Amino acid sequence: MTLSVVILAAGKGTRMCSDLPKVLQPLANKPLIKYVVDSALSLNPLDVSIVVGYRAETIKSVFSKNSFNWPLQKEQLGTGHALQQAAPFILGDVTLILYGDVPLIDVDDLKKLISLTKGGISIMTFNKGDSQGYGRVVRDNNKIIAIVEDKDCSSAEKKISEINSGIMAVDSKKLKKWLKQLSNNNQQKEYYLTDIVKFAVEDNSRISSYQALDEITITGINSKYELAMMERAYQMSLAKKLMDQGVTIIDPNRIDIRGELTCGQDVTIDVGCVFEGKVILGEGVHVKAYTILKSCEIKKNTVIESFSHIDSSVVGEQNRIGPFARLRPGCNLAENVHVGNYVEVKNAQIGMGTKINHLSYIGDAEIGSDVNIGAGTITCNYDGANKYKTIIESNVFVGSDTQLIAPVKIGQGATIGAGSTITEDVPAEKLTLSRTEQKTVPDWKRPTKK
Ligand code: UD1
Ligand code: CA
Repeated sequence: MTLSVVILAAGKGTRMCSDLPKVLQPLANKPLIKYVVDSALSLNPLDVSIVVGYRAETIKSVFSKNSFNWPLQKEQLGTGHALQQAAPFILGDVTLILYGDVPLIDVDDLKKLISLTKGGISIMTFNKGDSQGYGRVVRDNNKIIAIVEDKDCSSAEKKISEINSGIMAVDSKKLKKWLKQLSNNNQQKEYYLTDIVKFAVEDNSRISSYQALDEITITGINSKYELAMMERAYQMSLAKKLMDQGVTIIDPNRIDIRGELTCGQDVTIDVGCVFEGKVILGEGVHVKAYTILKSCEIKKNTVIESFSHIDSSVVGEQNRIGPFARLRPGCNLAENVHVGNYVEVKNAQIGMGTKINHLSYIGDAEIGSDVNIGAGTITCNYDGANKYKTIIESNVFVGSDTQLIAPVKIGQGATIGAGSTITEDVPAEKLTLSRTEQKTVPDWKRPTKK
């Protein structure tokens, strides 16, 4: 059996009140439609067609280098009309129909749905307490005989709680035949895809249903409010998975994972933390409140104090970072490093046991082990046009308020006196300082008020 997937994404999503098409609105920092495409691809389909209309080019541009078909539905005349545009691209035996605004579909459910097609239609349904607005699944003696849209429902049909999720799998040959039979003779003057159920009854084709296990997997998004509600539900499910693996999350309502977070044993995450991209936290790592970690690895037993930002860096074991520390891309910290408050580090290798505890900027640097960088030290790595490197060898002591004008190298074991501006390489094991001599003016008097 070969599979075709059609994703409906032509609608504008008026209720989003946004310039961005609905299917590009982000859930956990990823466009809604990407969830749908990823799920579709995991089924190894022969072809994927994404029906676009509103802002078609913008939607296409989100998928660099793709082999999808992009049928264009210029006017949104209904879900059936959308499928008619996709029909020429369908080559698989079975066609799976998905919505671009239903992001959290369950791949196992889809597999079961597809397996029930058997030369006919298989409909993903759900038993909803309040079914208003949805197409109702009408049964006779338990056999599905129609799907009736909310606006076309009789008062008896309105009471049906079993709804059409919109997701279905259909025998491709029959789908193409039935699509030709559609008309728009209904309340909304739309070509309803759901009318194919009537044709299947007439043809004596098999009509099956599969009940989605979890409502969120069939839930579509129409407004910013619904988007926010789904975001919270999705975040809770991600948090739950981590907690099931033993991660301590102080408040699962206050965590945001916008990518992939992998945790070792006995990790603790306090409130308000945001994880972006691929983040790895080693065993025993403690991330304190309001920290933002993006594309980074934090190794065993390291503590990230509150309000720290780490981006595209590797932090070694047993470090203490923050509070209010910022590691910009390209940092690699060995074991036992301390980076304290108001310290910014960028593109720097920092050796074992080195401490940069207060108010410093370290950029484009290579720092050895057991170095002490005093408060207010600045690597002057930029001359306004080019960037230069600072090398500080092991066991160096840099006194407070020192400027290191790169390119510059500080030899092993050197001491730099506080307040120095270092413009030339510093020899190993010696005290170097640049400082205007201190003087006292003996007969100076402080002015007094007249
Ligand atoms: C549709 C189903 C209804 C089901 C409901 C579930 C039909 C006729 N009705 O309702 O039975 O209960 O979904 O949410 O199929 N779209 C297009 N082109 C169009 C129209 C829609 O691409 O011309 C896309 C939309 O962008 C959206 C999806 O199809 O992603 C569903 O459209 P929407 O209008 O929300 O569904 P309904 O017709 O209300
Ligand atoms: Ca609608």
